[in-house]
Amino acid sequence: MDIIKAVIPAAGLGTRFLPYTKSLPKEMLPLLNKPAIQHIVEECLKSGVNNFIMITNKSKYALEEHFDYNLELELILKEKDQEKLLSGIKKIIKASRFTYVRQYEPLGLGHAVLMAKHSIGEKEYFGVLLPDDIIIHEQPGLDQLIKIAKQEKASVIAVQEVPAECVSAYGVISIKKQLTPKLFQVSSLVEKPSQKDAPSNLAIVGRYVLSSKIFNSLEEIGTYAQGELQLTDAINHMAQNGEKVFAYKVQGTRYDIGTPIGWIKAIIGTALQNPSYAGQIREFLSELDTPQSFMFNNSKNISNKEL
Ligand code: G1P
Repeated sequence: MDIIKAVIPAAGLGTRFLPYTKSLPKEMLPLLNKPAIQHIVEECLKSGVNNFIMITNKSKYALEEHFDYNLELELILKEKDQEKLLSGIKKIIKASRFTYVRQYEPLGLGHAVLMAKHSIGEKEYFGVLLPDDIIIHEQPGLDQLIKIAKQEKASVIAVQEVPAECVSAYGVISIKKQLTPKLFQVSSLVEKPSQKDAPSNLAIVGRYVLSSKIFNSLEEIGTYAQGELQLTDAINHMAQNGEKVFAYKVQGTRYDIGTPIGWIKAIIGTALQNPSYAGQIREFLSELDTPQSFMFNNSKNISNKEL
């Protein structure tokens, strides 16, 4: 079973990040010197996936520009002998194939994934990565799921335990069988249940490996609760109709960068893990306790070389 394609739904309006997202895509929010979407693409490449189907809308041009050559900039950098500043992103562009599909109306995550139907083969398994969810771990989140999908020859979704009072912000799974401490077979799924109706505290966290059968389920349920077709409902439909669905407790730190606070935490968290920034950030954080430190902020020293 080869898994080489990823669907990246990037057509969200980013209402939790307004007014920033009024004219700029939230997927272009930076984490250190890379836009969030580049972290997602790098996670895929490290997982052996290099064929991307990005679901976008008319205000997401910046994504296409980012994954394209900028000859004018390259020429200027060449004159300054600074070409290496773009070498990382150029490698990514060379290694990847991007297809952009427009979602004309904001009809939900399930509808966005359905837009990719014609780019996925009939019996193919593919990844889905929600760019709001950044997962940091030595072994990329998607790669963790791919290993399980190949082992079980079935769809797998990433879950993490969340506090009971937070379940209503997520899709939540109901367990049929626990196979290992981290692996579960799923009996059903429910999108954003109330705390009292939640079947568990295992919440879906933005990474999926799905069978192309998901498209049949999306088309068959076809109901748009509150104007949206939910991916969770379609996975539930698959599970209820004889398809095996597994959930894997994905390893790593997960940040929800769809909100300002989540994004700030992600920047601090990723900076602390990065040797080029960690020292200065630690120093800065410790200085925050001493108010006079604000008089001199040595932030200019932070390197801008591509990491
Ligand atoms: C989406 C999914 C939800 C999942 C969440 C993870 O919800 O519908 O099942 O738990 O992402 O981030 P959203 O956050 O887009 O409302």
